[in-house]
Amino acid sequence: PPGAGGGISAEMSWGWGQARLHILAIVFALEVSVGKTNTVVALNNSDVLLPCTFATCIGFQDLVFTWYFNSTELIYHGKIKSKSSEPVLVVRNPRVEFVGSTTGKDNNISIVLKNVDFSDAGKYTCHVKNPKEKNAQHNATIFLTVVQKMVETDNTLTLIIVSVVGGVIGLLVLFMLIKRVVLFIIKKVQDGKKECLVSSSGNDNTENGLAGSKAEQKAPPKA
Ligand SMILES: *[C@@H]1O[C@H](CO)[C@@H](O)[C@H](O)[C@H]1NC(C)=O
Ligand SMILES: *[C@@H]1O[C@H](CO)[C@@H](O)[C@H](O)[C@H]1NC(C)=O
Ligand SMILES: *[C@@H]1O[C@H](CO)[C@@H](O)[C@H](O)[C@H]1NC(C)=O
Ligand SMILES: *[C@@H]1O[C@H](CO)[C@@H](O)[C@H](O)[C@H]1NC(C)=O
Repeated sequence: PPGAGGGISAEMSWGWGQARLHILAIVFALEVSVGKTNTVVALNNSDVLLPCTFATCIGFQDLVFTWYFNSTELIYHGKIKSKSSEPVLVVRNPRVEFVGSTTGKDNNISIVLKNVDFSDAGKYTCHVKNPKEKNAQHNATIFLTVVQKMVETDNTLTLIIVSVVGGVIGLLVLFMLIKRVVLFIIKKVQDGKKECLVSSSGNDNTENGLAGSKAEQKAPPKA
């Protein structure tokens, strides 16, 4: 029937369309990443590494990368001519230093923010634009928290929970240990008593038995 044939061809072309889209996505995907975690905690006055890498399948040329603070404030702007060269600085915040490298295996475009202050806390976005990929753009974001001491206020609650839970577990373990020790002692004492009872009753039995049998053996002739 023509209806069924039409259905099949429509499905086939849909399938091919999906496959082509998928291949295009793989070939042209510019990926920017800040790593496994998207939060960094830094001490007041310390230097902090803000990590970022990018990957591209077809390579890059005159690639532009930019770091933004809280989405709007440009803190680092660099250009990379090609894979065989290191980035060239365009503009930067004086407290920001480029620490990456783009000639190695990873295209590392990490920066270090020096002498952090509480006002530096916020959102850091690493943005990449690749003209070789029809100006494909991608970005990744990392959040910076600045603390006075490495024990956060959040941690006090965690610490309390951990120590309470730990204490309870500790008490349970202690209780179980005491129970085991007590049971062990009781068993030992009972075993000791049993041994004594067995040996003494055994001796008694043999003596009694012997005596008894003797008595019994002696008894019949008398009777
Ligand atoms: C943060 O560092 C500055 C500079 O040393 C210092 O003046 C300030 O007291 C520090 N702030 C806190 C809350 O420790
Ligand atoms: C990028 O380079 C910095 C500085 O050498 C290094 O600390 C960091 O681990 C690198 N990151 C990755 C993902 O390779
Ligand atoms: C940056 O953003 C954070 C929230 O993401 C905010 O708390 C902070 O005040 C902002 N800092 C500046 C300087 O705008
Ligand atoms: C980052 O990418 C998202 C889309 O993925 C976009 O909405 C946002 O504007 C970009 N941010 C910057 C700072 O370019």
